[in-house]
Amino acid sequence: MSSEQSIEFEVRPGGQLSGEIRVPGDKSISHRSIMLGSLAEGTSTVTGFLDGEDCLATLNAFRAMGVKIEGPDDGRVVVHGVGLHGLRAPEGPLYMGNSGTSMRLMAGILAGQSFDSELTGDASLSRRPMRRVTDPLRLMGAEIETSPDGTPPLRIHGGRRLHGIDYPLPMASAQVKSCVLLAGLYAEGRTCVTEPAPTRDHTERMLQGLGYALEKDGATVCLEGGGRLQGRDIDVPSDISSAAFFLVGASIAEGSDLLIRHVGMNPTRTGVIDILRLMGADIEVLDPREAGGEPVADLRVRSAPLKGIAIPETLVPLAIDEFPALFIAAACAEGETLLTGAEELRVKESDRIQVMADGLVACGIDAEPRPDGIRIRGGQLHGATVDSHGDHRIAMSFAMAALRADGPIRIRDCANVNTSFPCFAELARRAGLDIEVHG
Ligand code: S3P
Repeated sequence: MSSEQSIEFEVRPGGQLSGEIRVPGDKSISHRSIMLGSLAEGTSTVTGFLDGEDCLATLNAFRAMGVKIEGPDDGRVVVHGVGLHGLRAPEGPLYMGNSGTSMRLMAGILAGQSFDSELTGDASLSRRPMRRVTDPLRLMGAEIETSPDGTPPLRIHGGRRLHGIDYPLPMASAQVKSCVLLAGLYAEGRTCVTEPAPTRDHTERMLQGLGYALEKDGATVCLEGGGRLQGRDIDVPSDISSAAFFLVGASIAEGSDLLIRHVGMNPTRTGVIDILRLMGADIEVLDPREAGGEPVADLRVRSAPLKGIAIPETLVPLAIDEFPALFIAAACAEGETLLTGAEELRVKESDRIQVMADGLVACGIDAEPRPDGIRIRGGQLHGATVDSHGDHRIAMSFAMAALRADGPIRIRDCANVNTSFPCFAELARRAGLDIEVHG
């Protein structure tokens, strides 16, 4: 298990980011390309696939259920779909590693199968809440067991007849929305999900791209069970969540001028750009275009003086994975930044409010965690040792903080950077970050 290896980043202070980079493929879209490609009829050739550990967990799970998948080979994966009813019982538990997306989306798919299955995860995933998916799945007729406190492993009984439901999501979560829609593929009748605020819509886009009819009406999306998916080529854009570290790094490091190519610009994901711009960042969106049913663009970011803001709550779900990086921007901004309405950050790969606050305080920043967010006053970052608690996005965020620190920043427990951004240190070094990897 990667989180058990001790990998440390040591990042020397100062420097700037410049040149041209392309960050790896989008994690959310890569997961869905394997899941929906497997459930489709015919072949789907995926390019730009993220071969990080999270997406490989999804890929290995479908292989274990009898799907022939070639690659990944330099981002190319060929999925030989077996159709909605072609999966076979796996021989043992399916290990999802650190990946909440794999576990929650697959729970929806597995609830509709004729065979029993079990989903397990690493220490972090085994602490994460799963009732948010088991509750609606049970309403649909599924039979699923969790641990007594609603955490993994999930034991899913096959052979249940699912029926459609009309489900108002209790929280803005694309994983829960996707789980219910995927179970809806196997349900009798119509399944509808209504979200309290817009969340990433990659599942809906890809279902439609593979020929499945969806109906959208405002915040509600519906589908009828019993349809079919048709395999197709899928081009995965670069992950804006991975680009975010560089957007922040280049914004805070004086003299930076960086071009990030082919970034996914789905409007349900671009909150990080909106928030950074509200703080005064200089980000240009160049050559907006479409690739594989998703908008993409090149992003040019130049350093700029940032100011603290009250982050509009409407932007929270649209930047949900980017807050660790945004907190570093806030630490480098003049004045105070206030985040509210973001309690979901407490149940990510780590408690991102507490772990970021602890790291910022260790670096000499005035940061006050709140139940649903944080208050950060910008100031001088000092060299320090911070613990990422095995959270990939926290590790990469503090690496960027060194650009503005007055001493080296050492970051513990960085192995899970491989879950989403396997070549991070190499790419960051090429762009100008003085980073060394130990262990
Ligand atoms: C994801 C949805 C988000 C996000 C996660 C990926 C997805 O989670 O944080 O990294 O691919 O659907 P929530 O649905 O829990 O907000």
